[in-house]
Amino acid sequence: MGKLFGLIGHPVSHSMSPSMHNDAFRNLNVNHHYHAFDVKEEDLEAAISGIRALGIKGFNVTIPHKVNVMKFLDEVDDEAKLIGAVNTVVNEDGRLIGYNTDGEGYLQSLLKVTGPNLQQMKTMIIGAGGAARAVFTVLSRYGVSDLHISNRTTEKAATLASECNCGQANVGVLSIEEAGERLAEYQLIINTTSVGMSPHTDDMPIVLKNLSEASVVSDLIYNPLQTKFLREAEGKGATIINGVGMFVEQGALAFEKWTGTAPDRQRMENIVLQQLG
Ligand code: ATR
Repeated sequence: MGKLFGLIGHPVSHSMSPSMHNDAFRNLNVNHHYHAFDVKEEDLEAAISGIRALGIKGFNVTIPHKVNVMKFLDEVDDEAKLIGAVNTVVNEDGRLIGYNTDGEGYLQSLLKVTGPNLQQMKTMIIGAGGAARAVFTVLSRYGVSDLHISNRTTEKAATLASECNCGQANVGVLSIEEAGERLAEYQLIINTTSVGMSPHTDDMPIVLKNLSEASVVSDLIYNPLQTKFLREAEGKGATIINGVGMFVEQGALAFEKWTGTAPDRQRMENIVLQQLG
């Protein structure tokens, strides 16, 4: 029998998740359906009760509910607790269990380019919000030995560094200006901020003057597909990674948790690229 899945967030009208998941369901020949539900902040608790009452089998969670949803769930997995946010919920016979596939999705998309050499890459994370916390958590879990954070508000970067379960990582905090000056030291630079996202496509999170051409530069943004930050980095000879891989992989990992089946990731990516035009 067909089951219902979904997304809760606000706003959700531009989400690419429904077409990505519905196509994956069709491709599996199952009669499931994924629907985007626009849920305002004050309606979150009621929405979760509704999900329970209706027997919705699984759902994604996006802005602004990724943190607040945790208190309405029956269980939150350890990595989601470390990250402090849930983006995927599985309804197991009435028990709602929260996971975070954003972090693992990012790690998998990065590993496709770097391979296990990632552990040895001196890394700069730009930003100290929710996305930075997810990236920081998975990179320290993977064993990246030098992890530095730079943020417009340096105190927030310091808080993230001090709160994190950093494993063996050597953690540092820099201002954006210092990070720009020392950029040549880093083999991996990751933008987790929204700087450069449409419609503010002329903005850059950091000056790339000192970028080494041997570095890998990654941006979590996928709209535009190539931010100015990535275009400039590519122009300097660096290897670039846009946010599409992370978006597809977080969805694929959620799909696996809900169905027990791996979706066709290439198909998912094609749908996302089509929608991004
Ligand atoms: P997310 O969950 O997407 O990470 P967030 O938690 O609101 O969103 O964090 C936004 C991040 O982008 C922060 O690091 C923020 O910097 P501040 O901590 O200084 O606010 C960064 N950011 C957002 N807009 C920015 C801008 N115009 N210039 C520089 N940094 C910006």
